[in-house]
Amino acid sequence: MYSLKSRFNTKTLGAILCATALVTPALAQAEPTVEVLHYWTSGGEAKAAVALKNDFEAHGGKWIDSPVAGGGGSAAMTVLRSRVLSGDAPTAVQLKSPAIMEWAEQGALANLDDVAQKEKWDEILPKRLSTLMKYDGHYVAVPVNIHRTDMIWANPEVLAKAGASEVPSNWEDFNKLAEKLQAQGIVPLALGGQPWQETILFENVVLGIGGTGFYQKALIEQDEDALKSDTMKKVFDEMRILRGFVDNDFSGRDWNLATAMVMNGKAAMQVMGDWAKGEFMAAGKVPGKDFLCTATPSNHGYLFNTDSFAMFHVEGADKVEGQNLLASLILGQKFQETFNLLKGSIPARLGVPMDKFDECALQSEKDMKASQASDGFLPSVGVDMALPGNLTGTIVDTVTAHFNSEMSSQDAVDKLVQSLELAKE
Ligand code: GAL
Repeated sequence: MYSLKSRFNTKTLGAILCATALVTPALAQAEPTVEVLHYWTSGGEAKAAVALKNDFEAHGGKWIDSPVAGGGGSAAMTVLRSRVLSGDAPTAVQLKSPAIMEWAEQGALANLDDVAQKEKWDEILPKRLSTLMKYDGHYVAVPVNIHRTDMIWANPEVLAKAGASEVPSNWEDFNKLAEKLQAQGIVPLALGGQPWQETILFENVVLGIGGTGFYQKALIEQDEDALKSDTMKKVFDEMRILRGFVDNDFSGRDWNLATAMVMNGKAAMQVMGDWAKGEFMAAGKVPGKDFLCTATPSNHGYLFNTDSFAMFHVEGADKVEGQNLLASLILGQKFQETFNLLKGSIPARLGVPMDKFDECALQSEKDMKASQASDGFLPSVGVDMALPGNLTGTIVDTVTAHFNSEMSSQDAVDKLVQSLELAKE
């Protein structure tokens, strides 16, 4: 095991540099190299990933791409575990904060304090984000963006067929509109039947029906009273209703294929994070005209999701230089603009000009600020931002078991309470 504090200990770094200079001058100018494990493989995601690769290569780096297909990243996480176990950790990995903390606790991550200090990360990052990147007070990861999962993506032409010009602002009206759409043979809700996508739907219903305080108590704190409440039962009731608005072929469908259903008019709406915007943009669609981006009925809450890269302990000056270069480029002002325009997210870094961003991104920024002023800035459970892996897994399993069966709302509540109790033992 490596000590987290050791990697950029100046003495150690100095010793490495001296030894390198004495042995072979060629090594001192090692080509910064990174192998990047990520799961950005859909159309919009891949464009954003290429922007990072291009920037890295333009700065003299060698990029080894290790994409693992599978939205939400669970396949990538399986690959990561086996790579680390076999002593072959990738240099840089797309990770979420709770997983970052788990890997840091194992001593697997490199310390990025030197780059962070040089580039003033404490000043250019909002405190809410920098905290998520630090383990034991030390930077171990660097954030790329801020996504939100409380969004409905809609096709305005399709909505118009049911006489609607906008997306409903509460779940009751959503149900009414969905019934009208269904009566016309339109799929009201495009969904991919994968547990993480069903959980995104669920967390939005929790927020819409229960409000921000309820989301915090039930999902983040797993407060028993909140979990057992009538409100939670109502959430599962609504999930059962929503199941009826999804087409029969939804099982296993990738999230971007669900987005395509909205794009090509086969379905009216999708509840998905704003990486969906990356798909619309990659297809040349125009926000406000070809598609609508509207927050779900979220009671002024904002379900955030930050992508970041953690650097794993690796040997070799080329790799260490690669990690430092990558970390520094990710928070570059220009890169933050380029990347987030493609990805559908908004910049992680403070002070990036927003003049090139569209109405969806500007709304996101506005809603984020409003939510932060009222304790409504909450982490998404569906994309692993909120809880340690075992607790997320427990919630996801219950949501998906209920959604894909005839389980009653009361049984789902009981299952949720019992399995969370077990997971915490
Ligand atoms: C999330 C990730 C996003 C997006 C999405 C679908 O976990 O944070 O950047 O790529 O998965 O793959």
